[in-house]
Amino acid sequence: MLIDTYGRVATDLRVSLTDRCNLRCTYCMPEEGLQWLAKPDLLTDDEIVRMVRIAVTRLGVTDVRFTGGEPLLRPGLTGIVERCAALDPRPRMSLTTNGIGLSRTADALRAAGLDRVNVSLDTLRPDVFRTLTRRDRHADVLAGLAAASAAGLDPLKVNTVLMRGVNDDEAPDLLRWAVDHGYELRFIEQMPLDAQHGWQRGDMVTADEILAALRTRFHLTPEGDSIRGSAPAERWLVDGGPARVGVIGSVTRPFCRACDRTRLTADGQVRNCLFAREESDLRGPLRSGASDEEIAELWRAAMRGKKAGSGLDDPAFLQPDRPMSAIGG
Ligand code: 5AD
Ligand code: SF4
Repeated sequence: MLIDTYGRVATDLRVSLTDRCNLRCTYCMPEEGLQWLAKPDLLTDDEIVRMVRIAVTRLGVTDVRFTGGEPLLRPGLTGIVERCAALDPRPRMSLTTNGIGLSRTADALRAAGLDRVNVSLDTLRPDVFRTLTRRDRHADVLAGLAAASAAGLDPLKVNTVLMRGVNDDEAPDLLRWAVDHGYELRFIEQMPLDAQHGWQRGDMVTADEILAALRTRFHLTPEGDSIRGSAPAERWLVDGGPARVGVIGSVTRPFCRACDRTRLTADGQVRNCLFAREESDLRGPLRSGASDEEIAELWRAAMRGKKAGSGLDDPAFLQPDRPMSAIGG
């Protein structure tokens, strides 16, 4: 098991497959100038499958999420999914993607064994999409979503980050659209993970604000008995259900006490938290002949060092050096 000194057990592995992306969302990447990881530093497909195998056979990981950057840019993605689906025990597998290219790959990914996808989409307006992502690809994302839905990758979740003065007026429209299409929408508070280190708490659209905006048009009731467990999203039934909406108050309603995540970067570093300032190198040992059990033990040690929380509320909080695109969401 991957257990930390606070008794939390990590069963959910996030694997970043590349730090590259075909969008430049302002809350994640700079317009230009971001240094990519060098190819030899990236784990190979074989190395990734080996790490996932160690995680599911020795460390109790049950869920694997492939992220990026943009994971669809990784040429070997379908093969990686297929090989991970053949592991025993077989992990549940999902993908966090911006949706570009999904219209061509959804069927193959589904056939390879992918269970679910989360597609990031922040706006219904192509011009706002261009401002926010600095690319004119709105239609590609919508096509990707439709293809994922048709391929049976459900529940299909859509992740939205609201930015003040950019798309913060769209919350109810996005929810109407998601409910009509059968997508489960989840709003994520903007976190200090942008490459430019420009995040300001006052600019962030809070969970309370999002809920208030949604309630101008929808009746929201807490789903179940409001026990959130390790799921970061607080979920609400929309107009009595069955449609739901999630709000992830990463900053104002932290869920660190129930965190069940462990993260592997594309260059083979274990991170025990999105906001960790330290990483543990597993690529070095992997390439110098360490056994599966030796790697598992290094991974366990990395998780034992996990801090109680993100430290976001501490005035001395320091943003991690890597941006979101190089950590994986
Ligand atoms: N704050 C909140 N969410 C973010 N994402 C990327 N950067 C940030 C940030 N700074 C989201 C993306 C995607 C998921 C991986 O995380 O929109 O949905
Ligand atoms: Fe790309 Fe995702 Fe970052 Fe946007 S948030 S630039 S889609 S990695």
